[in-house]
Amino acid sequence: MFFCFEGLDGSGKSTQLTMLAEGLRAQGRDLLTIREPGGTRLGEAVRGILLDKEQHQMQPEAELLLFTAARNQLVKEVIEPALRAGKIVLSDRFYWSTFAYQGYARGIDLEIIKMLTQFACHGLQPRQTFLLDVPLHMMKQRHGAMAKEHDRMESSGDLFYEKVRNAYLSLAKLYPSQITQLDGSLGATVLAKSILNQVMEQLNSGEGARDSRLASY
Ligand code: TYD
Repeated sequence: MFFCFEGLDGSGKSTQLTMLAEGLRAQGRDLLTIREPGGTRLGEAVRGILLDKEQHQMQPEAELLLFTAARNQLVKEVIEPALRAGKIVLSDRFYWSTFAYQGYARGIDLEIIKMLTQFACHGLQPRQTFLLDVPLHMMKQRHGAMAKEHDRMESSGDLFYEKVRNAYLSLAKLYPSQITQLDGSLGATVLAKSILNQVMEQLNSGEGARDSRLASY
């Protein structure tokens, strides 16, 4: 089964992914964790281009195609073989990031994004996506605490991030069976417990293999 985490940079999704992986490993589950963009040789190279601040002239359409190319490689080279081998796959971001960042926030037609997503992912769909929602001020606070230099995406400004946050909230309303919205300002342990419970429910219901190919965004 395939699970994903989404949210603004600094929403705590990477921490939650790590905690979920630990919880599942403690139960002897075989799993694979990945991040987007990246996870393959091609994907890591494309990630370098996408986050490079020197690429300030990158067009929204080019950005969309690069994220999509990296995702296609990841699906074919890593995710599909892992799922076929019976592993649980946990991903830090997947296609909902593209709907939020390139679609709602950059303004690219969502129908084009749907079409490209189908093309790149062959209809592969996460069983459940956890959206960690945090207000902008918390994102900035957490980012400041990391004392990390802003990359090209992170240099997009507050208005852009406000749009991304609202996009995620809209997507969670539109696709409630696929995206589970969580309050990212809650304590990490509380969140981790709730996420692990939900994942265990899905695993015990055993519907993953059947559902993972039904793309319906
Ligand atoms: P990363 O350093 O992985 O950020 P984070 O820790 O927040 O996940 O950088 C990925 C950046 O790329 C992040 O700003 C979100 C953005 N992004 C998109 O705009 N579209 C996408 O489809 C994906 C996967 C990421």
